[in-house]
Order: sequence, then structure tokens, then C-alpha cells
Amino acid sequence: MSTLPVILLLSGSLRALSTNEAVLRTADAVAPSAGVRTVRYEGLAALPHFNPDDDADPLPVPVAGLRAAIDRAAGILICTPEYAGTLPGSFKNLLDWTVGGTEISDKPVAWVNAAAPGRGQGAEATLRAVLGYTGAGIMESACLKVPVDRGMIGEDGLITAPEVRRQLGEVLGLLATTGERATAQRA
Ligand SMILES: Cc1cc2nc3c(=O)[nH]c(=O)nc-3n(C[C@H](O)[C@H](O)[C@H](O)COP(=O)(O)O)c2cc1C
Repeated sequence: MSTLPVILLLSGSLRALSTNEAVLRTADAVAPSAGVRTVRYEGLAALPHFNPDDDADPLPVPVAGLRAAIDRAAGILICTPEYAGTLPGSFKNLLDWTVGGTEISDKPVAWVNAAAPGRGQGAEATLRAVLGYTGAGIMESACLKVPVDRGMIGEDGLITAPEVRRQLGEVLGLLATTGERATAQRA
């Protein structure tokens, strides 16, 4: 079994031809060269609507799965669209489910803003605010702005630009190093 640090990839888009998904698929593809193992979270659509009454043992199965995936990860990379000036409701719902657990506390988290230049700032601001409530360790220095349009995505669904691939590898490495250091300090 691999002992490489795990980075959890969280997408905020449910769209089939999502550009945000393309960013995370590309992160997945470059992970081995960055010395990390990536895990793509695929349960966004299956999460129940957040209800504090249900945030108790036993947790709804999809929520327990989300929290376990976060717990196993050394760090988290998010790529989400902006809808109506903020996060998609489904992704905010995911983040709401993390507030009542401790799994995300102090976990290094970064995001990639894949919107057109100057766009997506509302989503970034909301991420900053909500992740602040969760106690996650936001790594501003690892966050990227990588405007992605369909022309940048090859037939294999991956971003072709070598510079973008290099940047994604660097972010994964930063998250892993920071996460492993935090784990060692806690031990
Ligand atoms: C209902 C709706 C609202 C949107 N609102 C915004 C917005 O406020 N700001 C923005 O930059 N883009 C906005 N967009 C554009 C999306 O963020 C953009 O299409 C993005 O690429 C979608 O991500 P995806 O390709 O991963 O699905 C909106 C799109 C939709 C469908």
C-alpha cells in the first residue's frame, strides 16, 4: 500500500463538462510526479441537505464518508465555480457538513480559481469566510488563479498547458508538506 501523502480533491461543480473538474482531473494526473496521491471526492450530489438535527451519531452515511475522506487526507485542494456571486449551494452544503466535525481543523486547504480573469472573486471570498468557520488551515500562498476555457482542455479531459500542470503539481506538494508537518507536530 502507498505511503504517499493523500490530497483530497473537492470539486464544487456537478456539470458534466465542468472546467473545475478538468482542473482537478489534471491535478490527479500530475500527482505522481509531485510525490502525492490524490483522491477525488465524488459524493457531492449524494450529500443530504445540511440539518443540525442530523449532525449527530450515527451520521448520515454520505456525511460519514465525507468526514472520513477529509480525515485521511494530509491536505485538501478545492476547485469550484461561482454562482450568483458566491459558492454553488451544493458546495456550501458540503462545507456546512464539515463545521460540526473536527476532521478539517488545521488541515491545509488551498483552492484554484478557474474563472475568467477578474471573475470568481465572490466564490473565493465565501471560501475564505466559510473555511474560517470550519477551522481549516487556509494556505493563501498555495491558492491559484488559472483561468480555464474549453480550448485549454484536451480530448482526454486534461488541461494541456505545461505551466498549469507545473503549478498544480507545486500546489499539491505544498499541501502535502504542510499537512505532514502538522501531523508530525501533533504526534
Ligand atoms: C446560474 C449561474 C450563475 C453564475 N454566476 C456567476 C457569477 O456570479 N460569477 C462568475 O464569475 N461566474 C458565474 N457563472 C459562470 C460559471 O461560474 C462558469 O460557467 C463556470 O465555468 C462553471 O464551472 P464549471 O465549468 O466547472 O461547471 C454562473 C453560471 C451559472 C450557470
